[in-house]
Amino acid sequence: MNFKVPRGTQDILPDVSWKWQRVEKIARSICDVYNYKEIRTPIFEQTELFQRTVGDTTDIVQKEMYTFTDRGDRSMTLRPEGTAPVVRSFVEHKMFGYADQPVKLYYTGPMFRYERQQAGRYRQFVQFGVESIGSADPAIDAEVIELAMNIYKKTGLSDIKLVLNSLGDKESRDAHREALIAHFSPRIEEFCSDCQNRLEKNPLRILDCKVDREHPLMTTAPSLADYLNEESSAYFEKVKNYLNIAGIEYEYDPNLVRGLDYYNHTAFEIMSTSKGFGAITTLCGGGRYNGLAEEIGGPPAPGIGFALSIERLLLALEAEGKSFTDEPSLDVYLVTLGDAAREKGFEILSKLRDNGLRSEMDYMDRKMKAQMKSADRLQANHVIVIGEDEVNENVVQLKNMADGEQKKVAVDELMGELKK
Ligand code: HAM
Repeated sequence: MNFKVPRGTQDILPDVSWKWQRVEKIARSICDVYNYKEIRTPIFEQTELFQRTVGDTTDIVQKEMYTFTDRGDRSMTLRPEGTAPVVRSFVEHKMFGYADQPVKLYYTGPMFRYERQQAGRYRQFVQFGVESIGSADPAIDAEVIELAMNIYKKTGLSDIKLVLNSLGDKESRDAHREALIAHFSPRIEEFCSDCQNRLEKNPLRILDCKVDREHPLMTTAPSLADYLNEESSAYFEKVKNYLNIAGIEYEYDPNLVRGLDYYNHTAFEIMSTSKGFGAITTLCGGGRYNGLAEEIGGPPAPGIGFALSIERLLLALEAEGKSFTDEPSLDVYLVTLGDAAREKGFEILSKLRDNGLRSEMDYMDRKMKAQMKSADRLQANHVIVIGEDEVNENVVQLKNMADGEQKKVAVDELMGELKK
């Protein structure tokens, strides 16, 4: 029987996993600089958490969740996203009581959505996300956006743009909702059954329906921008002002609605503008979610965050021809000839590693030539050769691969020599 990786998932093989680690390291170090701390939540949660927060009428909840009944007859769901779990944890552990607010958190890990597989779209994908919970200051919106942009910048990506919108507060959204219902109702039979259901429950979701994308009423739908009340507009202006102060360029897109229900006010996406990138250009999405903590039983705790997919970041780097190429090389490769040399080599190898030097030796009993080839492939900076003579004299041959220089070094002096 042949087993294969499940559809929509992938194995991250050893020749690529170092690139993932590189991205994670960059993202973590930027979060550290911005004073965000890591949080780790479970990979599954009660199904209701996502139904209530992401929203009953969204594609994610209606079509894409991996939901199962556990042996205790509870409905559980593999997390499709990280915000609801983090806010759940914030409420459960009463982080609203922490002395320092907002509480600034980051996370990374697999998310699960049963989606149609295509380039850049997976059923298991890894998000790196940030949530700042407890402040409604527009400056924190700009901070979160800046942080996201800086992650991309530090990886070397340059063909990206920030797209920004305001979804307004509840009052603005309610007014817009009424306008949408009035707009779509007369011809709602021409839409798919999902959209028909959405009309009363959540007409905004009609706008991101993949089935009815081409319907003429889509382009003439009332824009949320025309329904923002004064408070919402003022908030949006302040966010834009802070972005200007930070020197961050953005493109205003009144049609950016995002596919999750918990958002209000600031909504943003970062897209790849690289020509080589596929049809799906969104690398990162985020926004403000005042009211989410209350939705799940907590006190008011306005928040904002984003999540990016590491898969798409790496694809974007490739599309720009900027994929990482500097795979970490080996410090030392040990070539041993014969059993006595192998024993001596093993002893030296252990010391090298104890001193933090990335080192390797041959375990396949190969000839000298084959061992030297391995040293080349692994881009070893130094090669140590030990044969019978070297064992007898308690020395090694040390070759510097950069300049080809080779010298005899006493075993006792080897570490000092390598540290030079
Ligand atoms: P989202 O827009 O659903 O937002 O997802 C965020 C990012 O995850 C997307 O921009 C995309 O890069 C990546 N992503 C989503 N689905 C897939 C997929 N099937 N395959 C590969 N990558 C994917 C959220 O998840 C929110 N929790 C973000 C957030 C955090 N908002 C506030 N805080």
